Amino acid sequence: MNKKIKQIINKKNRAKIISLTAYSKNIAQIIDKYVDMTLVGDSMASVLYNYNTTRKISLDTMIEHAKSVRMGVNKSLMVFDMPYNTYKNKKLALFNVKKVLKKTKSEAIKLEGGFKIKEIVKHLVSNNIPVLGHLGIMPQSVRGKFKSKGKTEIERKKILKEAKLLEQLGVFAIVLECIEKSLAKKITNELKIPTIGIGSSANCDGQILVTDDVIGLTNTKIKFVKKYMSISKNIGNAVKRFKQEVQLKKYPNKKYSY
Ligand code: KIV
Repeated sequence: MNKKIKQIINKKNRAKIISLTAYSKNIAQIIDKYVDMTLVGDSMASVLYNYNTTRKISLDTMIEHAKSVRMGVNKSLMVFDMPYNTYKNKKLALFNVKKVLKKTKSEAIKLEGGFKIKEIVKHLVSNNIPVLGHLGIMPQSVRGKFKSKGKTEIERKKILKEAKLLEQLGVFAIVLECIEKSLAKKITNELKIPTIGIGSSANCDGQILVTDDVIGLTNTKIKFVKKYMSISKNIGNAVKRFKQEVQLKKYPNKKYSY
């Protein structure tokens, strides 16, 4: 097993697992020092490309971003989020995953789903592909509004069963997106592999967020997102100063000229 994956699994019940997204080298090299896992997420569909669904991002576009991310990732585990329709059946899944791993040098892949992707996960794991699961809200399957999961008994039982199935199939961890906190706790307690929450309370073994949200590059109002800074304000200020200095002929001065 990959050493970084082993370290992530060993953190369960010892230390929280920290994870963020990256879509470029510049962000990846900043976050890499602090995170256990860097995810090239298909959230780039909405965050970077303004699509109304993650379904619209293509595999080739994501591969180009991942190639850039690879240049900034050193210490953390680089995970590639397989986009919609790239793992419809086991043959296609293995073909696309192999292409991703070869072209991007990612170290693991993420798939959304439980019962429906059972055979695909099984096939990938049996071909030595490290798989990160994803349950709860699964953006590739949502049409319309996102609603948190685990409110009804039927839904709770299904999600718990799916988490156990994924563990049994050999995924190394599971992302739990927008799952009610007592269910997140139950899943986390009943699994030996770690759970990584996004909007699923502190009851998970780790947390993941979209970096662009965390640094205030996006305008998201999602309840679970905490903005730790407003980088867009800083960028705006720098650009304003550049503009003023060019207009006033203060830039470029002697120091910045040949
Ligand atoms: O695409 C993504 O960024 C994700 C998350 C878990 C943040 O899937």
